[in-house]
Amino acid sequence: MGRLDRCYNIADLREVARRRLPKGVFEYVDRGTEDEIALANNRRVYHETKLLNRVLVDVSDVRLESEMLGLPSSLPLAVAPTGIAGLCWYEGELELAKAAAKVGVPFTLATGSNTSMEKIAKHAGGRLWFQLYMWREKDLSDELVRRAARAGFETLIWTVDIGHGANREHNARNGFSTPYKANARSIVDALAHPEWLVTVLGRYMRTDGMPRHVNYPEKYQEKITGKVSTSKAARADKVGWEDVDRLRAIWPGKFLLKGIMRVEDAEEAARRGVDGVVVSNHGGRNMDSAPSPLEVLPGISRAVRGRTTVFVDSGVRRGSDIVKALALGADAVLAGRATLYGVGAGGQAGAEKALSIVKNEMRRTMAYIGRQRIDEVGADDLWTGRETASASRVRPAVPEAAE
Ligand SMILES: Cc1cc2nc3c(=O)[nH]c(=O)nc-3n(C[C@H](O)[C@H](O)[C@H](O)COP(=O)(O)O)c2cc1C
Repeated sequence: MGRLDRCYNIADLREVARRRLPKGVFEYVDRGTEDEIALANNRRVYHETKLLNRVLVDVSDVRLESEMLGLPSSLPLAVAPTGIAGLCWYEGELELAKAAAKVGVPFTLATGSNTSMEKIAKHAGGRLWFQLYMWREKDLSDELVRRAARAGFETLIWTVDIGHGANREHNARNGFSTPYKANARSIVDALAHPEWLVTVLGRYMRTDGMPRHVNYPEKYQEKITGKVSTSKAARADKVGWEDVDRLRAIWPGKFLLKGIMRVEDAEEAARRGVDGVVVSNHGGRNMDSAPSPLEVLPGISRAVRGRTTVFVDSGVRRGSDIVKALALGADAVLAGRATLYGVGAGGQAGAEKALSIVKNEMRRTMAYIGRQRIDEVGADDLWTGRETASASRVRPAVPEAAE
């Protein structure tokens, strides 16, 4: 029995990945920012959201397929951009993209990944989305966007919730940075994880050399021996809605904004013809004071759903979480860590396992709540009745004056 055969849920895959990966890499994947309040809150809100089962209805034909941005998806989920799969497995982005294609969901390649967009486009198959971080020199971003279009990516996600970058103290403690660099702490960490050292880092060294941000504009690419990072500082912090129009004009496909948490921002996006918004707090990795996206989702959904597609991410670990997100007003979810744990545990096979686990869990949940199609899921499936429970305790169980 292999490692993956003993994984029955995402938490099991996470545990296998934790043992395989250097601490610096694993914590970069797993942890949040500052006091990790947003990270914990993302899960807490999912835990506290309850669904009501519906009985004695036909659930013999539950289907999870959805139309996402005009094309089919085998479940209402897309793989979120993460830019680290390539350190979880050799060419992990390609492994993850192939897994997504096999399961039939879109895969998003992050600007900061280690495998080139052209290679992904050539070998992955399936639906491919590209995520952009805007550079201060906006013409370099425009060039990247044109390159993604030429490579055949169907959807562009512009991530807009980055502010001045994240304060992730664990990275500093672990001596971890992207692109990956050798230093006293990272070398000790790598030596303690020999399988990773040989099959991931060693393999890069034997082929293309140290993993690089191969999709960055040439002048921002660094190698291990490179100078002090300028690439993150080069990300634009002076952007505006006019940049949405500019990107819209040069990008031929669907266009999404990721990191939307305010109703008025979602409304502005819809007004400007953005095809979808991703309600997201970046998986609790950026602003630690952010609410859970699930908490702001109903208001955003009420304001713009139907005019633009509403995605939500941050905290999806179970198939039931997807159903909860739909019930609260999302059209679909993005999943980041759930599939990364899969890649970290077993490359393409691990990512496929992660996706099939959440798919099976989602199907079960749909059957419990008596829904056979995802567009039937709605607010009516949520349990909202804490006061009903206390009220029933004070009221007599059997109506009085029955005779
Ligand atoms: C290790 C890691 C790296 C990430 N890198 C990016 C990135 O490069 N661009 C981006 O838009 N979002 C990035 N994200 C955020 C994800 O796209 C997504 O919003 C988040 O993972 C959702 O939360 P979840 O991990 O709980 O599913 C990253 C997330 C993780 C976990």
